[in-house]
Amino acid sequence: MNSEECHCNKHEGGHGAAPCGEPDRRGFFKKASAVVLGALSVLAPIGAGLAMVIDPLRRKGDGDASRFLRVTTLRSLPDDGVPRKFPVIANRVDAWSKFPATAIGAVYLRREKGKITAYNVLCPHAGCFVDYMAGDNDFLCPCHDSRFALDGKISSANSPSPRGLDSLVVEVRNESEVWVKFQNFRAGVADKVPA
Ligand code: FES
Repeated sequence: MNSEECHCNKHEGGHGAAPCGEPDRRGFFKKASAVVLGALSVLAPIGAGLAMVIDPLRRKGDGDASRFLRVTTLRSLPDDGVPRKFPVIANRVDAWSKFPATAIGAVYLRREKGKITAYNVLCPHAGCFVDYMAGDNDFLCPCHDSRFALDGKISSANSPSPRGLDSLVVEVRNESEVWVKFQNFRAGVADKVPA
């Protein structure tokens, strides 16, 4: 007998026969299960693919995060108070790609009586690179003539920069390595706001 056939107790009065509607229900559940399983088999790979696409976006890239980076050694930074410019090199990582070591910025380091100070080379006015002027022993931004003293403060009343040079945190590690917590800050504003 076909399992889908119905033997109705009401009409036949028999015992043990499947009640009316039972095969229909079984058929319905079978079909519903097939539909659900089919949908899952399609949706699961889509979900996995979507997770792969979205996951890198949720991960924090390494390229722009403020973090300590090894910049130089004490040997390359004489204790004479003269600022020296160093590139800041990092392995840049964005949402999907890893880039080889690249210069992500630059800093001025100055060592005097054992103390090291660091400044981001970007002018806080509009982001040009400031130059160290050995003759005047200060910093000058060539774009709009902002001037900064060795301690980073604005040194000229005509400087359009809204704040002094952006100081950075420095650490000496492993006795001779100079590490800087490298960060860029928003240009054109008086407060030092991380970019
Ligand atoms: S960008 Fe430096 S003074 Fe304008």
